[in-house]
Amino acid sequence: MRYRTRTLLAALTVAIGAAFTLSTPANAGQAAPDMQRLKQMMGRQIQMMTPEYQERVKALSPQTRKLLMRIYSQHSRHSDRITLRQVMLEVLNDYNGMVAGIVTDNPVQAADSARRLANHRIPRGGLIPYLRIGDVNDEKLSVLSSFNDSVEGNAKRLADAADDGEMVKAASYLSDITAGCVGCHNVFRDVPGTTSNLK
Ligand code: HEC
Repeated sequence: MRYRTRTLLAALTVAIGAAFTLSTPANAGQAAPDMQRLKQMMGRQIQMMTPEYQERVKALSPQTRKLLMRIYSQHSRHSDRITLRQVMLEVLNDYNGMVAGIVTDNPVQAADSARRLANHRIPRGGLIPYLRIGDVNDEKLSVLSSFNDSVEGNAKRLADAADDGEMVKAASYLSDITAGCVGCHNVFRDVPGTTSNLK
């Protein structure tokens, strides 16, 4: 369980994988059962998108699809109800729990929260439908690989260090994790809660 890689970014592959599957039907029979299930789920998710978003997903390069597929294969928790904002608020709570564990010298809280953060849920329809349509292209999505390792990769490293009772080492991963949140928001998110009622 603890070594399973899970990532926020996997959501993207939910959509991409479907297009990938459709374009390589010859491989379907060879896929492992787990991979088959993932592909079926991805297919359902892409079908939920508007034609505009589906078109964007289908235009992605095999390289981008592969990246997203790899990330996606490391995820296991999916919701058919909640939005990306709701996922993010859960992520923030796990982030806070992780920091609380570190600063109170509580390795079990730090490790549990970090693993829960790394295994955050994938929102309804995957990540792509929550991104601006202009961001659904190879260039923008290519940055996901490094954000993935910054957040989920370091959260798991932090958890392992906490398990070993090495709290100073665990704390050293916090800034890289935070940089991953900030970096991804810089690329894909606007300032939260802006209003058009101010001039
Ligand atoms: C894959 C890129 C990505 C990563 C990595 C990421 N976020 Fe987000 N985050 C987003 C996007 C996109 C939104 C905007 C979602 C929306 O409004 O639909 C968002 C929104 C948020 C919000 C605002 C919710 C609201 O009320 O509008 C919070 C809080 C948040 N993220 C916390 C975090 C934390 C904490 C981390 C790191 C542990 C993190 N995020 C990592 C992409 C990311």
